[in-house]
Amino acid sequence: MIKQAIIPLAGLGTRLLPLTSVFAKELLPINGRPGIEYILDECIEAGIKEIIFIISTKKLMIKKYFYSDQFYKNIIKKKKDLKIINKYKKILKYKNKIKFVFQNIPRGTGDAVLKTQKYIKNKYFLMLLPDDLIIKKNCSKAMIKVHKKYKSSVMASMKVKKNNVSRWGIYKINNKLNKRNFVIESVIEKPTVRNAPSNNAVIGRYILPRSIFNKIKSLKPKRGEEVHITDAIQLLINDKEKFIAHSFEGKYLDCGTMNGYINSCKEVGKL
Ligand code: G1P
Repeated sequence: MIKQAIIPLAGLGTRLLPLTSVFAKELLPINGRPGIEYILDECIEAGIKEIIFIISTKKLMIKKYFYSDQFYKNIIKKKKDLKIINKYKKILKYKNKIKFVFQNIPRGTGDAVLKTQKYIKNKYFLMLLPDDLIIKKNCSKAMIKVHKKYKSSVMASMKVKKNNVSRWGIYKINNKLNKRNFVIESVIEKPTVRNAPSNNAVIGRYILPRSIFNKIKSLKPKRGEEVHITDAIQLLINDKEKFIAHSFEGKYLDCGTMNGYINSCKEVGKL
């Protein structure tokens, strides 16, 4: 059963500078609501009961957004506005499901995952990368279904332009299970166009086994290098853990760059 999700939120957001020098990109509004709320809704609708946020002291703003009880209580005391009461209730609903852990030095997604180790209770858990918004169809829900059927790890996937492979984790297919699901033979983080095994990219939704923690620990990056989750996944594949790439049905929106963010606002506005 997949009941817990983790969301790495400690990234510096350099692709969205100068905004991110003072603001957490995950709180930027998309059609009037912070991007992170769409990700939370996806989790909750997929049956997730607990969500672990990995933040940093530089991004305390995110915690504050969900822990502003006194602020709301003061306003509600002064004027009993039903709209404000309902807004507060919605925030409380999220807050009750969120736990916070800290990654104060941004050492990559792999390192962020490791920070959650002591909180993960079941054999498998979900990870969502907040830059990747998937609309129109709940990707996490579909992936949990795949996981239940094949009892395996799952990653969201999409075809990307061949000349753009070095922006993504790229994988090679071992065999095709059906139209949307493929067993992965190998995966490589941001390969050069020459070294890429295909143009099948990993998108930011993963169902990972708890055994990934030991693999992350065994990766010894050089000083100043990041620990990529992709490398830990490859180690698991070497150990015969089955990883399925799920080609999702929804529409992918990249919120991690300014052009992508502007486009996301337009697309979500149309819904
Ligand atoms: C991360 C992963 C990469 C994946 C991508 C999806 O990269 O490391 O494998 O393809 O997310 O968005 P990042 O966006 O953090 O550079």
